[in-house]
Amino acid sequence: MRGAEIHFHALPGVDDGPSTMEESVALLRAAAHDGTDTVVATPHVRGDFLTQVGDLGDRVRELRCAAYAAGLAIDLCRGAELGHDMVGRLGQHELETLAQGPPGARWILVETPFEALDDVFHAATDELRDRGFEVVIAHPERSADAALDDFRGLRRELARGAVAQVNAQSISGAHGHEACVAAFALIAEGLVRAVSSDAHGPMRPPSLGEARARLLDAGVPVETCRRLTFAGPRHLLARGLVSPAVVRA
Ligand SMILES: [Fe+2]
Repeated sequence: MRGAEIHFHALPGVDDGPSTMEESVALLRAAAHDGTDTVVATPHVRGDFLTQVGDLGDRVRELRCAAYAAGLAIDLCRGAELGHDMVGRLGQHELETLAQGPPGARWILVETPFEALDDVFHAATDELRDRGFEVVIAHPERSADAALDDFRGLRRELARGAVAQVNAQSISGAHGHEACVAAFALIAEGLVRAVSSDAHGPMRPPSLGEARARLLDAGVPVETCRRLTFAGPRHLLARGLVSPAVVRA
């Protein structure tokens, strides 16, 4: 079984990921060597990075062509890691270009702020849901919400129908001890839907395989490892995300 990356900074020159097309192709080559055949390109769409999303399709097509020319068997998809500050600034069509999943089960990857998941964040994700998109919360284990607040903000999101994506490098320890402890705590509680690399370059490489090995070494059941690193991401892409009839006041 080949892996799927739902959080991966693959596009050149748009955020803090690769700077050049060559670096992007090298990152995709590393993903292929890691056992991955599907990558969603998720550039930071937020106030201090990319705010214009109209050309994302062209950018993805350019990288897809370069990867193909380099002989890589990678299915590259268009997506984003959306900053909550951008939700109110993007039109419906723009949000649609960033979403994954089939019609009726569309979802968007939303970045967890390092500070906390506060009322402003919840208002933004509520707006996404009101506009027809479910929410995948990116790397909640890296937020102060994890270390200081027992994931209170994340739990509020999960109660609204969101699911959590944990970074492979949190599991490996590359994001630090606190993120590692938080990642394993979330997994032990059964609160994680998918693991992804959140790859950016040589210092933050594709590492689904390493995460899988670390989980197994830590005694996480094989089926859980497979669900988090294979089935979970693939199901999100193929079947999407449908909220369990969340009712908000
Ligand atoms: Fe990211």
